[in-house]
Amino acid sequence: PKLTKYVDPLPIPRTAISDPSVYPGADYYDITMRPGTWKFHQELGSAKVWGYWAANPHDPRKPIGMGYLGPTLSVTRDHPTVVKYRNELPTTHLFQFVIDKIRNGDPQLTPTPPPPYKPIQPFPANVNVWNVVHQHGGFTAPQSDGMPLQSFSPDGIRAEPYSGLYPSRVKPNESICAYTNHDRSCMLWYHDHGMGMTSVNVYAGLAGLYRVGDPADDRLGLPRGEFEVPLILQDRTFHPDGSLAYTMTLREGEDTPIVNGKAYPYLEVEQRRYRLRVLNASNERFWRLRFEVPEDVLPQPILPFWLIGTDGGLRSPLQMLNFLISPAERYDLIVDFTHMPIGTKIKLTNYNAPVHYPGGGGPEISEIMEFHVTKRPSGGGDRSTPPKKLELPTTAPIKVTARTRRREWVLYQHKLFTTMTFNAVPFMEPSEDFIKAGSTEIWEYINPNHDAHPMHVHLVNFQVLNRQPIDAAGYQDQYEKWIDSGRKPEDRPVLANYLTGPPIPPDPDEALSRKDTVKSYPETVTRIVINEFDPPTERIAGLPGSGTELPATYVQHCHILEHEDDDLMRPWTIVGDDH
Ligand code: C2O
Ligand code: CU
Repeated sequence: PKLTKYVDPLPIPRTAISDPSVYPGADYYDITMRPGTWKFHQELGSAKVWGYWAANPHDPRKPIGMGYLGPTLSVTRDHPTVVKYRNELPTTHLFQFVIDKIRNGDPQLTPTPPPPYKPIQPFPANVNVWNVVHQHGGFTAPQSDGMPLQSFSPDGIRAEPYSGLYPSRVKPNESICAYTNHDRSCMLWYHDHGMGMTSVNVYAGLAGLYRVGDPADDRLGLPRGEFEVPLILQDRTFHPDGSLAYTMTLREGEDTPIVNGKAYPYLEVEQRRYRLRVLNASNERFWRLRFEVPEDVLPQPILPFWLIGTDGGLRSPLQMLNFLISPAERYDLIVDFTHMPIGTKIKLTNYNAPVHYPGGGGPEISEIMEFHVTKRPSGGGDRSTPPKKLELPTTAPIKVTARTRRREWVLYQHKLFTTMTFNAVPFMEPSEDFIKAGSTEIWEYINPNHDAHPMHVHLVNFQVLNRQPIDAAGYQDQYEKWIDSGRKPEDRPVLANYLTGPPIPPDPDEALSRKDTVKSYPETVTRIVINEFDPPTERIAGLPGSGTELPATYVQHCHILEHEDDDLMRPWTIVGDDH
């Protein structure tokens, strides 16, 4: 459907209200996954969607949510949160045809590789919907992390026996998670992580924001309150009646940008600075974003802005003209509308990133939303600090020596199958990666493909170390031969023999930034350095079993959700000294 642009105001997800009386010492939320309806645009009919709803401790009849997506959980750094999640979704999937195809082994969708490939769904054939909620980017014990094998269905069937907190207080279709909130102040998010069906579950609407605030930030002079605006970027395809279409192969002209659930929205702004907290919650789309100003307003029609934070928190301010954001990344920006005349319309555009970056394919999206400058600054003017003068927390580089342990993750696609894996090992194979608690490691994402993939590691923040070009065809060829000839460790291709140029330092927006998701560019090895293999051990709000016991297994995966489902995800394990 062709939609009129910039006629719907940008919705702002409401903030959930905690109940501090349930688990003294922690904020408590009660969140239900539920089917609902949502209009993505005023010219579209209502769509069936799935969303998260938070119980309202002040008025039980008025749960907090909007149907699509979920309320924002706004928490305080170091003050823990306990959440009960309840699954009240239907037992038939909103995109049941996708589930049926996975079941019946549709060759287009998931050609099944030969053994030792194991099926990605440990659920009985009559179960069609299962879910689990993952707090993306948080410092969380494994039993609260929300990993695929912790999925549970609306009728209470679990992938694995319940490992979460307080078994005596959960029904079969519930789980209780505890979050330490030992994070910097940053924008995390929570989203579905259902085993093998994260893509269709998130597409249906299962995602929301998790804002970690630090009272110390109030002194920094950042725009606050209504001048701090979250932007959840996604793309969706609609049937003519306005319902959601999950097309898999995105057809030209059919992909629509949505922000906080609305297609082509607008936001009225005052002549002042705004803090925009951008999350790319798309299934697979990369965006290269910039702010375009009419030519009569600025001699140069691109509005510069300041980057002040990334996935894991604040960083020293960096002036930019555009940035590339891949699925799951967050960019924390200051945009200054102070000198824009009343009546100016500023467009947020995606000026050159195709769906599959950078290779292309799939429909282009260029315009996304508009900012309408309508008022002089209210409330006595803008008292926020000019970005140039901001003094923000910085991050020291993680120390790396020649002896720092390197670990290779090859993004491997066998020539006969669309399925991708790390190191040609399916997700369901047990963890083979054992990492000493407290150690520092360099992880090398070796990407011989033609597209970029966003790599996400649970639990930790990391830094981007460098990237280096590789002879992709040569490496791929040798790697395939190695797999086919039985993977003798001594015959494994040696990365150093395939490097074709010197290391390239991280991009300016990545350098000295805390990241949990990194772009692994094509025909490149991307190196990250991690020194946070220290899972939380403390008891949360006195809850027995809320800390971590070693060995502790987490996952890392591609955050293109279709890839994560099939099968670009692997567990890894933190072990103690006695291992
Ligand atoms: Cu945002 Cu493992 O996920
Ligand atoms: Cu991928």
